Amino acid sequence: MDPRQIIRPAKRDLRSLPGKTNIEPTEQANIAEGNVWSWIHEIIVASPVQPVANLGTGFVDFNPPKFVLEAYKEALNNVEYNQYAPITGLPSLKLAVSKIWSPFYERVLNPDTDICICNGAQEALLSSIMAFVRPGDEVILFEPVFELYVVQLKLVGATAVYVPLQPPKGIDTENLTGNDWRLDMRDFKKAVTSKTKAVILNNPHNPLGKVFTLNEIRSIGQICVSHDLLLISDEVYERIAFDTPFTRAASIDSTISARTLTAISLGKLFNATGWRVGFVIGHARLIHHIQNTHAVLAYASSSPTQAACARGLLEAEQNGFWEENRRDVKARVQRICNVLDEIGLPYVKPLGAYFLFVNISKIKLPPTFKFPRTVTKHGSKDWKVCYYMINEIGVASIPGSCKSIVQLVTG
Ligand SMILES: Cc1ncc(COP(=O)(O)O)c(C=O)c1O
Repeated sequence: MDPRQIIRPAKRDLRSLPGKTNIEPTEQANIAEGNVWSWIHEIIVASPVQPVANLGTGFVDFNPPKFVLEAYKEALNNVEYNQYAPITGLPSLKLAVSKIWSPFYERVLNPDTDICICNGAQEALLSSIMAFVRPGDEVILFEPVFELYVVQLKLVGATAVYVPLQPPKGIDTENLTGNDWRLDMRDFKKAVTSKTKAVILNNPHNPLGKVFTLNEIRSIGQICVSHDLLLISDEVYERIAFDTPFTRAASIDSTISARTLTAISLGKLFNATGWRVGFVIGHARLIHHIQNTHAVLAYASSSPTQAACARGLLEAEQNGFWEENRRDVKARVQRICNVLDEIGLPYVKPLGAYFLFVNISKIKLPPTFKFPRTVTKHGSKDWKVCYYMINEIGVASIPGSCKSIVQLVTG
């Protein structure tokens, strides 16, 4: 059995299960219910065409590099690595992070005070949000947006304020790149109010594959400085930027760096998403509070995983893995682009990460095909195309947040 295909009852069916009580879930539990990922999962599991090729949820179907796997196996033989790690992270991993990332920021990252190792970037982001964002605060997100931020902000009672990344003309007919989508700084400035606490930037961007330019990030950072905002920079795909320079927000200048928290995922870097390890880098004044929220949310991250990543990072710096992986992802993206070229569907090609936005305006669905209410309630074609493809062709994608676009993940 595919371990991902765990079938849970839908919320609407829970009341018919045995064990009746009056125990009601919290607001937070309800917020987390019914996102696009669980919808896709349910449709995939129920599809008559099996197995479904899942190009929707970023599931990598190959192993992490051998040198990291070997380091993991060795770690398991060490008594120390089978017990709790220190709360803020294994010293060897924090040292490796400091060694590798300090030169980017032109300051020495103190392993104990400027870094917090977390259970994946997801927990790094939640720990950061919980450390600084209060109920009623507003947080600016750039749209289309990685849905996780929206849910995490709801969990703390904050309000997401959306600023659009504008699609270029020709989106319906031409192939474009993620970088053709632009942020209008006037829209961004207008979105800042007295309640704004933070901005979440994702670079390289999920789902557009946009790699923000130095000028764009500098402008975003300067607005954060002038309004005293926290900048949470989700850079989980930082080693997967191709054909274009990648700028780390915290590397621009000291005023931007002082308010920037950078989230990085070692799961993404090593194609080991199941290992659940990532980290936040920032100045000690900020990281201190994240170390506290992280201690409550997770206590510590997995010890052998951290030990393996510590060695893996140092080896990857020497053995060319980053470049090899970048080339590999680029080739995978190109394979899907070739297919889309062949069938004549325009797409947005990523310049970083592994997402492809595909324009589905040209697709004609059979008029008699019956869609369930969970699909028709959205009133847009992307949900229908996703549902149809899973059920009739056995390929899963994600509805884009624009009506005529679906997202494929090529990882
Ligand atoms: C943009 C972005 N940020 C954060 C995460 C979470 O990363 P992790 O698996 O390390 O928790 C993901 C995962 O897909 C992502 O796409």
